Amino acid sequence: MQLPDYKKARTRGKEEVVKELFSLDPKYQNLGKGKTYFVKTYGCQMNEHDTENIKAMLEVLGFTESSSYEKCDLVLLNTCSIRENAHNKAFGMLGRIKHLKESNPHLLVGVCGCMAQEEGVIEEIRTHYRFVDFVFGTHNLYRLPEVLAKTIEEGNQAIEVYSQEGNIIEDMPVKRATPYKAYVNIIYGCDKFCTYCIVPYTRGKQRSRAKEDILKEVQDLIKEGYQEVTLLGQNVNAYGKDLGVSYGLAELLEEVAKTGIPRVRFMTSHPWDFTNQMIEVIAKYPNIMPSIHLPVQSGSSRILKLMGRRYTREEYLALFHKMKEQIKGVTISTDIIVGFPGETEEDFQETLSLVHECKFDNAFSFIFSAREGTPASKMEDLLSEEEKNNRLYTLNEVLNHYFLENNQKLIHKIVPVLVEGKNASKKTTLYGYTDTNKLINFDGEENLIGKIVPVEVTECKTWSLDGRLVKDRSQEEDKVLSTNH
Ligand code: SAH
Ligand code: SF4
Ligand code: F3S
Repeated sequence: MQLPDYKKARTRGKEEVVKELFSLDPKYQNLGKGKTYFVKTYGCQMNEHDTENIKAMLEVLGFTESSSYEKCDLVLLNTCSIRENAHNKAFGMLGRIKHLKESNPHLLVGVCGCMAQEEGVIEEIRTHYRFVDFVFGTHNLYRLPEVLAKTIEEGNQAIEVYSQEGNIIEDMPVKRATPYKAYVNIIYGCDKFCTYCIVPYTRGKQRSRAKEDILKEVQDLIKEGYQEVTLLGQNVNAYGKDLGVSYGLAELLEEVAKTGIPRVRFMTSHPWDFTNQMIEVIAKYPNIMPSIHLPVQSGSSRILKLMGRRYTREEYLALFHKMKEQIKGVTISTDIIVGFPGETEEDFQETLSLVHECKFDNAFSFIFSAREGTPASKMEDLLSEEEKNNRLYTLNEVLNHYFLENNQKLIHKIVPVLVEGKNASKKTTLYGYTDTNKLINFDGEENLIGKIVPVEVTECKTWSLDGRLVKDRSQEEDKVLSTNH
């Protein structure tokens, strides 16, 4: 048994991170033969991508995917620690699984992801959730076959969580969620230690993948017909800083754009590391999508300082306006936390005024949630729950107003759309995303799925657009959206 240790997770050593290739001991090959699995994923894109690796590993072991957790032989929860409700959801699910296990004692139950890295969670699983068969963490995803084999062979709870990151594992098998959009990890971990955030503890120190490995993955995806890649990391702007070379996100984005893949996206960007060079590269390449997620967290410089965000309100606004000026047609989305410890009404009003100034195209808004082991969890928090809820409500009203206002500017424009799938319940048949990352519903043949097509915007809502497929573009040139993308 190997348990998580928060003290170790916090330390940032100087050891070199080296690359290792994934390998599977042939003795595990039939571990899941004839059995089915279900993976439930919580949290961010990094977790979604980890699940793509987990599913592929389970299939290498002989398991096949089930569409229901109630009818399978192995259920695995890939968990998220970011806020208390993510935590509660996973424990709620474990409660339901407990009943399943009572009627099917052969069901294998696993927990992985960020919660597995938390000391308190593991303690809880060891004492109150004994029916959980196996646990592994974010740093040893690739050890899933070994951990699973151990619990099957020994019949005991197998827990293997590394508190510190190990090497970067290349060539992990992957079962991607779609055949036209792919996630590509470029940097693991985070060294920013924003005072409210648990990620640096659950994901370890910042480690960049070698650019050769990233570019090879993109080249392979192009050969397989992929239309879009999203370069992933908790702070992609820090790419390369740990490699000791003068090659960062700007250079990487440029090389990825030059591969010719139709769409390149990246997330998430921390404002602090966003350079002029990156802005120039984004503006220069039409296949780098004009859509940037730039979390601000608060509009008050006093709160930003307490959050450890390393920029002021004025610096954020200057960066925001520079992007808007230099990247034609760019849309910017953000994340905002309300009710951070010590946030006064005046601080909150500054957040609202920043939203009025930036008129974001999209945003995720949250109430501060105290996370185990973070500095902010020890700060005095006097605001009532009611007041926090009121602030979130007020903020959302203002945000929604601008989402709709921005969408309305697109009426009758023709936008490029990557068609993603069929609408199950809506009145239109297809849906996809515009270059600026807006969801659009429209009618069309199923064979358009996976293609980029022109669509005229016919109706604008707060969170989505409706459109009409443009069949003969030449006659409609005057309506084309005036971006260079
Ligand atoms: N790496 C990204 C954010 C990852 S977490 C970045 O720095 O921009 C996604 C969002 O969750 C954060 O931007 C923040 O708004 C929110 N978040 C993180 N920790 C939180 C906490 N303890 N309480 C409430 N929201 C939190
Ligand atoms: Fe968390 Fe800050 Fe790192 Fe984002 S940059 S993952 S908010 S510590
Ligand atoms: Fe959650 Fe971990 Fe992602 S805490 S947001 S799953 S990095």
